[in-house]
Parts: sequence; C-alpha cells; structure tokens
Amino acid sequence: MTTWPTGVPGLAWGADYNPEQWPEEVWAEDVELMRRAGVNLVSVGIFSWALLETSEGEYAFEWLDRVLDLLHEGGIRVDLATATASPPPWLTTAYPDVLPVRADGVRFTHGSRQEYCPSSPVYRAKAVALATRLAERYRDHPALAAWHVGNEYGCHVARCYCDRCAEAFRRWLQRKHGDLDTLNEAWATAFWSQHYSAWDQVLPPRVTPTFGNPGHLLDFDRFCSDALLELYVAERDALRGITPDVPITTNFMVGWTFDALDYWSWAREVDFVSNDHYTRSESDDRHVELAMAADLTRGLAGGKPWLLMEHSTSAVNWQPRNIAKQPGELRRNSFAHTARGADGTLFFQWRQSRAGAERFHSAMVPHAGTETKVYREVCEVGAEYARASELVGSTVDAAVAVVYDYQSRWLSGQQAHPTADFSYQDTVFALYRQLWDAGVTVDFLPPDGDFSPYELVVVPALYAVTDADAQRLADYVDGGGHVLVTYLSGVADERGHVRLGGYPGAFRDLLGVWTEEFFPLRENEHVTLDDGGVAGVWTELLHPRGAEVVASYADGPLPGVPAVTRNRHGGGTAWYLACGLGGDGLRRVVDAALEHAGVPSAPGVEIVRRRGRLDGEAVSWLVAVNHSAVAAEVAAAGVELLTGARVDGPWVVPAGAVAVLREMV
Ligand code: GAL
Repeated sequence: MTTWPTGVPGLAWGADYNPEQWPEEVWAEDVELMRRAGVNLVSVGIFSWALLETSEGEYAFEWLDRVLDLLHEGGIRVDLATATASPPPWLTTAYPDVLPVRADGVRFTHGSRQEYCPSSPVYRAKAVALATRLAERYRDHPALAAWHVGNEYGCHVARCYCDRCAEAFRRWLQRKHGDLDTLNEAWATAFWSQHYSAWDQVLPPRVTPTFGNPGHLLDFDRFCSDALLELYVAERDALRGITPDVPITTNFMVGWTFDALDYWSWAREVDFVSNDHYTRSESDDRHVELAMAADLTRGLAGGKPWLLMEHSTSAVNWQPRNIAKQPGELRRNSFAHTARGADGTLFFQWRQSRAGAERFHSAMVPHAGTETKVYREVCEVGAEYARASELVGSTVDAAVAVVYDYQSRWLSGQQAHPTADFSYQDTVFALYRQLWDAGVTVDFLPPDGDFSPYELVVVPALYAVTDADAQRLADYVDGGGHVLVTYLSGVADERGHVRLGGYPGAFRDLLGVWTEEFFPLRENEHVTLDDGGVAGVWTELLHPRGAEVVASYADGPLPGVPAVTRNRHGGGTAWYLACGLGGDGLRRVVDAALEHAGVPSAPGVEIVRRRGRLDGEAVSWLVAVNHSAVAAEVAAAGVELLTGARVDGPWVVPAGAVAVLREMV
C-alpha cells in the first residue's frame, strides 16, 4: 500500500489549485510561477463538480486534461480531488432531498457549498460515479500522485436531521444496541417519560423545548461522524478498485473549533493523514495552538508523516477580523508543522481569487502579484524546503503523551452540566501550553492508546471512559508510569452514565481520592491555593483516600480542602488536579510532574527533534522556530541545513527565524 503522494521529491510544497476560476491563458503563467516558488504538489478540482459534470451524466474532462498535462510538463505532482465537496445546482434542483436539513427543520438550499445530506442515496451514487469516472480517466496520468476525497467532511454541515437521516440513525442504533430495551437503558429513557416502545418513535435530536437526552445526543454525534465516514469510504473504495497504488486521503480539520468528527476512527481509513489548519489570527498564542494541532494530527497519523493540506500564507477571510501574517510568520508556521511531523505544507490556495466568497483570503500569489511580501516569502520557503528535504520520513521524539477523546469532548460540551464555563479544548490547551513552554514535545493518544513508551501521560477531562481503558491507565501506573489527571475525568462510562460512589468515578482508586460534590465557581470568580496558585471555573469537595495533598484552597467555597493531590500507585504516581488551575500554579504542577517523571524541560526557543536515517545511518535533526523578537542560543553541534553553516557550540537562532540542524551524533 502506498502511503504518501507518489513522486514528490522531498518535502511537499504547494496549494489548492483552482484553475477553473481563471482564463486558460493564466494557466501557463501559473505553472511558471509555481516552478519559481518550488511548488511540487497541488490539489486540483476540489470544487469542480459543476464544471466536470455539466448536467446529469454529461462529463467535461477536457479542461482538466489540459491542466494536468501542463502541471506534469512543469514537473508538478497532483493530489487529484474527487470533486464531490459541493454538489452542482443541477443536482440539488433535480433531487431536492439531497439538500440537508437543520435541527429546526429548515432545508438548506444551494448557493454556497457542501449542501448535501450524508444519508442521501442520490448524492452518494452521484459522488461515487464521479469519483469512478475520474479514476478511470486519470488512472495512468503521469501527474497523479494521490487522491483527495471530498473536502473537509462536516465543515459546514456535520449533522443533518432529515427523515432519511432519521431512518439511517435508527439502523445505526439497531446495529449498536440490538434492541430497544438496550437503547432505553443506555439513554436512561425512564427519565422525563422518554421510553421508546417502537423504533419509528426514535428521531434525530431535533429542536425540543429544553435539554435533550444526553445519551440520544451522544449517539447522534457518533452516528453523524460515522455517516460521513461511510460516504468517504464509498468513494475511497471506488478509487481503490481502479487505482490500488494511488494513496487516498481526505483533509481533516484538527484545530480549535471543529469537533464534529471522531478523527481517531477516521484516521484508520486514510492511506495518509492530511490536515487543514488556520491560526486564530487575533490570538497571541496562535503558534502554540498550531503546535497542539500539529501534534494531535501526528497522533492521528500514528506517528507517521502527515501532510498539512491547507494553511494560509497570510490573512483568512472568515474570522471576525482577519489579521495579516507578520513577515516570517508564513515560514515559522510552515516549519512548525514540519518540525511536528508534516512532510509537506500546502496552502489554500495558489492564486488569490478575484471574485467569489473567498476573494479576500490570502494565497501564494496575491491580488497584488509577485512583487510582494507573500510571494517572495513563498519562494524563499519553497527553496528552504528543498534544502531540508532529508527530513522526509523521519519521526518525532516525545516522552510525554496527552490523551485526547472526542467522545469526552462531545459529552462534556453538552448543556445542563455543572458549569457553562468549562471547555474541553481550553482544558487540554492550558496543559499543552505549560508543556510547550517547558519545551516538552508531546504525542497525542486516544484513550485506548499504548501508554507504555511514555514517562508521563496527561489526562485532561477524560469525562467518559470505559472500564477497560481506566484499567489500562491504572496498569500503566502500576508498572511505573506517571499520570496527571484533571477534574471531570472518569466521571461517566461510555454511555455517559455517571459512575456512582463519588467522583472521579473510574479513577478514584488510581488517584487515591474521592469527591463528594462539585463546587463550580461563579463567572470570573477565582480562588487561591495555599501555594499561591489561582484557580477559576472549577473546584470540588475532595477527600484524600491514600493520596498526599500537594496544595489546598486558601479561600473560596472550600478553604482547607485539597486542590492538587499525588498518589503512589504500584510503581508509579498519579497526580490529580481537582480545579481549574491556571498560570504559575498550573506551571508548578506540570513542572513537578515532569520532574518526578524524569522528563527534562528545555524552555526557550521552540525545538523539536526528529529522528531517521540518512545513507543508512541513524540521524537526528533539531528543528528550531524562534517566535520571539530576540535571538536564541542553543548548545548544539551539526550542520544547519537552510544556510549550510557548521555549528559547534552555541547555535544561534535569530529572532523570528527558523533553522534545521542535522545533529552530529
Ligand atoms: C478550508 C477549505 C478551503 C477554503 C479555506 C479557507 O476550510 O477547505 O476550501 O475555504 O478553508 O480558509
């Protein structure tokens, strides 16, 4: 099985290429400018359905033939889209029930993009037919490097509530629960008179007077992720039957806001993981959030190289205020992804559109042309990528793992919880931020991942956990591992039912504590700990049962009650963070857990180590990204690949710069 776009020399560099937006005269110039910029891979045809199948069953591939031929002559490889991300107006006009329906019953119309219902048999058949036609036509095209199925599944329409989805949901529930008694039990339908006596009473969670049933909502989230995955798999299998050696991917959206898909299950179905990441342009922490998304993407890829399918050269057009990137930021962003395992970074898009909804979104070739900060930087970084090409295929070193769980994210984000101020993503990020500041690279794992290679496993808000996964974590600690678990972990089982006998249910014994009641804080309220730490959002009435108290509340609703504990469990240690600690207080806990686990900190410039082989020899590289306005000095020796300089002793990484050092071992 081929697991990387074929024929790409070195690190991939390129963009979404949408030539259909331009007259054909522009295409030759595009290829010329791509060559100047070092572009070696482009995604073509993502939104081309309406121009490839101009009416039902009428195909027009000639323009795409010419595009692919031109790219091939220019030495540029193609990640060819199946073009199914947006059905054309003829399709939704002829078959209106392809259009998805919102929870309030409103049916979307065409005129934007991604207007399809995942359960529509017409959409599925038409999408598979187009993918099949493309595969048959381009199976032997020399430019074909990979398949790009759909685009960002679930980006705009992650859930459809139509009658067809209701039927598909029931079938999914029948497969999962078997019979209605089991479903009634799983959803606790004895509550609020929700007991189902026939399958056709079960609907998608449409608009209801007040809070929906948590089990119903959770299963619908799972169903919607699976329904879109089935669509992807249908296209993938059609392609695979025709081009078994061409690797297949679809671009994920691992980032800050999107949470509709359980990417752990999706990652198993792609030949290589690809991701789209856009920084939060107004945030000062955007480079740290980028690092977290990149590490999570590498986790989804199982540690193997992954592709950044899209990011932006400068501003996007869909945030409230779209801040342009600073000089050097495009380079830092690209290499930060590459440091964390991306063997290539592509942009949305090649040439900035002059019309259409994304005309103010940056691109590799801006409206203003090539004499610009952006195009110059694009060319420079393209050349640097070529110099760093030996990184390809190497892996990333990490001694710490963070458990990331989409089911817990969904469940903990439901309404009718102890506080609206809790956010799964904020909780993960607060811990990640401390690890990033400490210069510690982390891997992300699913709750059923293999903890054994790590010195420390961080478990943020693992709200719902199976008995088996809880046991595996306990066994890991028993065997000498170290864990740091936060509040709102272990509270529920995989159905979302609260575990009785005190929180944090599944982890009480491991952590050596029990909590009798949650004490969330008022909006903007803070409590102080006796070591000076400050916590917001969450506290709880906790009792040690074997654990030693690391810090207690000095004020607030629970003075004297433990806030941070540490428990010896077998050969290892289990820390419990029972409150929404931030700032220095959180830093102290994370530093102590790192030190206790024997993980060295290296605060300062962002450095990630990749390991691999060069000419048969084991080699390591340090990729450094200096986000600060001052030069950094690092003790290291080797050859800096971007400049060719030999380094022995202090390695100076200039302010705002990026450097890649092949270490002397
Ligand atoms: C992505 C999408 C692209 C483009 C881009 C703009 O979500 O895949 O087609 O819309 O965002 O940032």
